[in-house]
Amino acid sequence: MVEVDELEERAKADVDMAASTAELAAVETRYLGSKGQLQALLRSIGTLPRDERPAFGARVNQAKERITQLIAERRQQLERAEVQRRLESERIDITLPGRPLPLGRLHPLTQTVRQVVDVLSGLGFQFVEGPELEDYAHNFQALNYPEDHPAFDEMMTFYVDDQRLLRTQTTALQGRVMQYQRPPFRIATTGRCFRYEAVDATHHHTFHQVDVFMVDEGISMADLKGTLRQFAGAMFGGDVRVRFRPDFFPFVEPGVDYAIFWKDRWLELGGAGMIHPNILEAYGIDSERWTGFAFGLGIERIHMIQHGVNDLRLYLENDLRFLSQF
Ligand code: FA5
Repeated sequence: MVEVDELEERAKADVDMAASTAELAAVETRYLGSKGQLQALLRSIGTLPRDERPAFGARVNQAKERITQLIAERRQQLERAEVQRRLESERIDITLPGRPLPLGRLHPLTQTVRQVVDVLSGLGFQFVEGPELEDYAHNFQALNYPEDHPAFDEMMTFYVDDQRLLRTQTTALQGRVMQYQRPPFRIATTGRCFRYEAVDATHHHTFHQVDVFMVDEGISMADLKGTLRQFAGAMFGGDVRVRFRPDFFPFVEPGVDYAIFWKDRWLELGGAGMIHPNILEAYGIDSERWTGFAFGLGIERIHMIQHGVNDLRLYLENDLRFLSQF
């Protein structure tokens, strides 16, 4: 019977040592399974003298009951501990702050456009939108481009068919407005323009412009200069100096390019001038009574100056490392 006592002792130790229900199941099979150690003892009963067999059988059964009981108790303990551990590990702390959602942001050019709209609206200009797919007539003829003028060559673009192209300049809106609107008016527009360009750090085939024009009685270069200075001051801060130099655009006379004094040098912003009388007359506006100015500039240029960006190709690349800086 000594071996039964020993087996019971071993089983008890093993049950106590089982650290999980899975380990315990293995112990159970080892002792109580059909190929387990108790079964093996029972089978050895045949080797005993007859008179010892009943007592031996009874002892083995007793051991089996005890072990069964021990396992059941241990299983209950382990199960309770395991449920407890799961509850702990899966607990949700509803007092923790939520994970922040990464917010999107406006594209830098959209930010600049909004600032431009803000400033010019404040100066009394009404924003109007023109089509990106423009007719040839509005992009050129309406703006006083003579046929076969070399200025066309500077304005190569994407011609869609005989009538239409992707506009090369937001100035194309002028004719559209003057078709139906009588002076006085102050109009501004902003949007995408397209040119057939060799792309480099300052030129793209796709870029943005803002165009501004005003027609009223007695408008002169002084109004243009004052408006530009106001505009530049609001965009770049402080008391910006504006410089005009003669330049040619078919739709203005006189025509100028203008620059601002930024940090320590003159930076060109765009073109400007007094609206050519031919244009006013073409739309039935008496150029003896009404005069107007116009100016146009690149949106990318504004943002580049404001933030020291040195390559305008970055604006179209959609690289978050660039975009998220603004
Ligand atoms: C014009 O487009 C005229 N329509 C401006 C104007 C309006 C003059 C009203 C007179 C009266 P220009 O081609 O210089 O002018 O372009 C104006 C500005 O647009 C440039 O100074 C530049 O900032 C921007 N720009 C022109 N071409 C490109 C290009 N390929 N890529 C990026 N920006 C450009």
